[in-house]
Amino acid sequence: MTARETVAVAHPNIALIKYWGKRDEHLVLPFNDSLSLTLDVFPTTTRIRLDPDATVDQFVIDGRAARGEVLHRATEFLALVRERAARQERAVVDTRNTVPLGAGLASSASGFAALAMAAAQAYGLSLSATQLSRLARRGSGSAARSVFGGFVLWHAGDPDAPDPDLSSYAEAVTDTRLDTALVAVVLDAGPKAVSSREAMRCTVATSPLYQGWVTDSRADLVRMRTALRNGDMACVGEIAERNALGMHRAMEAAWPAVRYRSPASHTVLHHVRRLRKEGVGAWATMDAGPNVKVLCASADAEQVAERMREVTARVVVARSGPGARLAAVTS
Ligand code: PMV
Repeated sequence: MTARETVAVAHPNIALIKYWGKRDEHLVLPFNDSLSLTLDVFPTTTRIRLDPDATVDQFVIDGRAARGEVLHRATEFLALVRERAARQERAVVDTRNTVPLGAGLASSASGFAALAMAAAQAYGLSLSATQLSRLARRGSGSAARSVFGGFVLWHAGDPDAPDPDLSSYAEAVTDTRLDTALVAVVLDAGPKAVSSREAMRCTVATSPLYQGWVTDSRADLVRMRTALRNGDMACVGEIAERNALGMHRAMEAAWPAVRYRSPASHTVLHHVRRLRKEGVGAWATMDAGPNVKVLCASADAEQVAERMREVTARVVVARSGPGARLAAVTS
């Protein structure tokens, strides 16, 4: 008899108002609210089976046994699920990504959203989507948002609440009809030199620009929600680009400086500005890696992608994608 297996699928999300910096490392509570778009490309599929005879968890990621920091984070996450479920069994987990790992293309968001959903189900926790996003947050902050599809808001939560964990969760933003695309310009698919966790710590502790960026992000979020409601693509794009560039300036001002932008990233950023001058609505955003994602109206996506192919052949058009879902439970 094969053991019962649970399978979950989740997609990455790209933040238009970024999360950068934790006010609580253990609970993964951010300083500011963030807002993202869940994509319809690069899904992560995670299968989990409980093994009553095993003494350790086993993780295979993209066909290889996980080791080091990746294994440590995944095991800690399962320990949290076990504690909540008051269960003991260890798990055998197999994860398949379709996005390059650790390259600022949000693999940790889809990874921990899929793991949270699969593990909660396997250990018999019955969670609402809100509760699931709080759980996924503990694995990787941005994973809280991949629980939902489309535009998603992650509440930073109330630091003075008796249990701040309860107030920091994601939810779908449904009061918009804006049909956007994100054109991913993949410059380097290798793992990043500095983890986002380390880079955030360093930025919060040393960057003279950090507090200003957090304050701006709070105002950006309010304006972005209005722009989404009004279907104002230009306003959404401009706020997103300014927010991302502000985050990168803040980390570049840290000591030691955190630099994810490469010369090739600057070439793409320049290309995006030139497109705008030509009258095409295109705005750039970047995460913890050199790759650039170009935000535009869905109707303009192919034209924008074609122009980006002048810089590199590896250009992927993404649109609004679904939230995390259970794909199968077999016994
Ligand atoms: O979830 P983490 O710890 O991988 O951090 C993600 C941080 C950014 O991708 C740079 C921004 C964001 O809001 O997703």
